[in-house]
Amino acid sequence: MSDTVTSRLAGFHKLPLEERLARIGQMFRLTEAELDQLRGENGLDLSVANQMIENAVGTFSLPLGLGLNLTVNGRDYLVPMAVEEPSVVAAVSFASKIVREAGGFTAEADESMMIGQVQVSNYGDPGLASEKILDAKDQILALANSFHPAMVARGGGAKDVEVRLLPAPEGPRGEPLLIVHLLIDAQEAMGANLINTMAEGVAPLIEQLTGGRVYLRILSNLADKRLARATCRIQLDLLADFGLPGEVIAEGIAQASRFAEADPYRAATHNKGVMNGIDAVAIATGQDWRSIEAGAHAFACRKGQYRPLSTWYLEEGHLVGRIELPLALGLVGGPIKIHPGAQVALKLLRATSVRELSMVFAAVGLAQNFAALRALGSVGIQKGHMAMHARSVAVTAGARGGDVEKVANLLVKAGHVKVEKAREILASLPPETSAIATLTNG
Ligand code: MEV
Repeated sequence: MSDTVTSRLAGFHKLPLEERLARIGQMFRLTEAELDQLRGENGLDLSVANQMIENAVGTFSLPLGLGLNLTVNGRDYLVPMAVEEPSVVAAVSFASKIVREAGGFTAEADESMMIGQVQVSNYGDPGLASEKILDAKDQILALANSFHPAMVARGGGAKDVEVRLLPAPEGPRGEPLLIVHLLIDAQEAMGANLINTMAEGVAPLIEQLTGGRVYLRILSNLADKRLARATCRIQLDLLADFGLPGEVIAEGIAQASRFAEADPYRAATHNKGVMNGIDAVAIATGQDWRSIEAGAHAFACRKGQYRPLSTWYLEEGHLVGRIELPLALGLVGGPIKIHPGAQVALKLLRATSVRELSMVFAAVGLAQNFAALRALGSVGIQKGHMAMHARSVAVTAGARGGDVEKVANLLVKAGHVKVEKAREILASLPPETSAIATLTNG
């Protein structure tokens, strides 16, 4: 199948939805059930939802779009994205098209090393307690691994023990915090359950070794040993747009990057743009996106100031973009096993390992960020956004089918993108086109 998959699907957005589905169905040899899944006709079963969370009263759906044109390390990817915000999918597709012409994204990812934390208190002398723990490293690792022999057999599991002594938050007379880190290779899993089991499992031994008392035993979402990185290098002439030369667009992007480097207020919005892409693909593929968000923002603060996850600069006639962030993803376990939507999305994404998945996520984040900065550093975001926003306002006002585009265009022309105005325009359309809207509006 891999040979027949291309992410370059010219004119895809202009096809009627059923034709898009047919095209994707053919390309990925999707079953009827999988196609129904995409159509939302075969969604998460209520009984499954009921087992997933407490007090379930239903299920909740989001639009699912495909980010196009992405190529990472020479391989094409169609990116399933679940998101409510207009322009996110279009932005990734647009940016990836330019980067593709420039040779595509290059990416790499670390192994799946996660951190389990064990907090020790009332341990007496900090130096002595640390020594006792480190001397018993092999014993601690063996105990941790005894809780998950299958993972160990696959080459994963607990690999190392570290001790961190942190100054007491209450001041110099307080007992320093003694935190034990278990470094655990989660392989193809995100690893939360595995890590928590191991952290809880070794706690009695750590108490015995130190004579102290263990409080928290939990993974850290700052997965800074599980980073993914993506880069791209774009010739300036490929950037020319809005009637502006590539140099001007590139300079705007580099200036945006400088702004985010210097100012946490801007960095937060810069990173929000990055996460627009990453969250959308994370949700579609059944990942724990809160953990990804927590990790990304903690990592952004690692040097003492909140900074951008990506940077852009000019180098020898090229615009260079780089992103690095923790990505604790999973291809096995958790909702992936039970959520049929996540399974179809992963089939479309066709990453064969969790590291490959992380590389795609990183590239999606960089692509999303590129698209935002390109507009922000030149003509501004509102021009492009307005057309998208107008479409969703038209839908809210009751427009359906071909009327959506007509109403949206007239809204933008009127310079007044509001639901009341959209209703007014809709009512003025010829009766045969506005009939559906009238019916659905009840
Ligand atoms: C909007 O969802 C995201 C942006 O604000 C990102 C950015 O400012 O870089 C456009």
